[in-house]
Amino acid sequence: MPATSRPAILVSGSAAGIGRATVERFAAAGWLVGVYDVDVPGVERAVAELEDVHGAGAAVGGALDVTDVEQWHRALAEFAEVSGGRLDLLVNNAGILRAGRFADVPLAAHHLTIEINVGGVVNGCHAAYPYLKATPGAQVINLCSASAIYGQPEIASYSASKFAVRGLTEALELEWRKEGIRVQAVWPLWVNTALLEGNDTTSASTMGVRLTVEDVAEQIFDIAKPPSLVGRALGRVAPARVHTAVGLPAKALALTADLVPSFLSREVNKRINHS
Ligand SMILES: NC(=O)c1ccc[n+]([C@@H]2O[C@H](COP(=O)([O-])OP(=O)(O)OC[C@H]3O[C@@H](n4cnc5c(N)ncnc54)[C@H](O)[C@@H]3O)[C@@H](O)[C@H]2O)c1
Repeated sequence: MPATSRPAILVSGSAAGIGRATVERFAAAGWLVGVYDVDVPGVERAVAELEDVHGAGAAVGGALDVTDVEQWHRALAEFAEVSGGRLDLLVNNAGILRAGRFADVPLAAHHLTIEINVGGVVNGCHAAYPYLKATPGAQVINLCSASAIYGQPEIASYSASKFAVRGLTEALELEWRKEGIRVQAVWPLWVNTALLEGNDTTSASTMGVRLTVEDVAEQIFDIAKPPSLVGRALGRVAPARVHTAVGLPAKALALTADLVPSFLSREVNKRINHS
């Protein structure tokens, strides 16, 4: 099938929250957006609303449980039918959080967090690789988190899952750059979404929930832009940006972790978490 002239983005977990705002942002810029989520009524609602605002054919979508690689293959094949095989950007966004003191959270919830937040990204990158490789200038953006700066009490397995996303992003950025696929991650601190419902944490009360889904979507849109002429010239001498913290508090935490010895990072995090 012929590739369409529109760039194409597929976002996992995009029926709600950050994923939903991300498809909205790219649709507004004229991209073909793929809305995929376990929440099928949510997907149908999102596609209908996106088409209402941006016109028929602006969005496609369907069921996707990111833990099931067969569902990834089906979703990608369906999306490619419409995009003409193009996958300019894959955003691995689907994720869950179960907060609580480690021993109080059921073991099954810890395992599910790892399965969705890490397994889902591994599946997504693996299944999407042929499409990314076939699309000139293709990119992957993974939803990491400020909890990958230093391990976070009360969200231990979530934080560990985001350290894994961080590692996977760094490894694939190096491995796939030679193949023309750019890999990055965004690192928001707390964002006001359903993810936080029933998940009170000391860190969220200390740091506040300051970011909106639109803030994160705008950051994703921004880092997905092709570099300017100046950016391209700088890119020949400066290292590529892999991680982007979202919002001032997350940027400050990331910078602190880069600059200070690890015992001071631990001290900062001890205070944030009142541990
Ligand atoms: N909200 C925050 O404070 C925050 C901060 C940093 C990073 N993040 C990350 O951003 C991403 C999106 O989070 P959000 O805050 O928008 O959450 P959200 O709960 O609002 O939305 C998550 C979406 O993922 C979907 N989903 C859940 N399990 C799935 C699965 N197995 N397969 C496919 N879809 C699935 C849900 O149905 C939902 O639509 C997550 O990876 C999260 O870890 C969130």
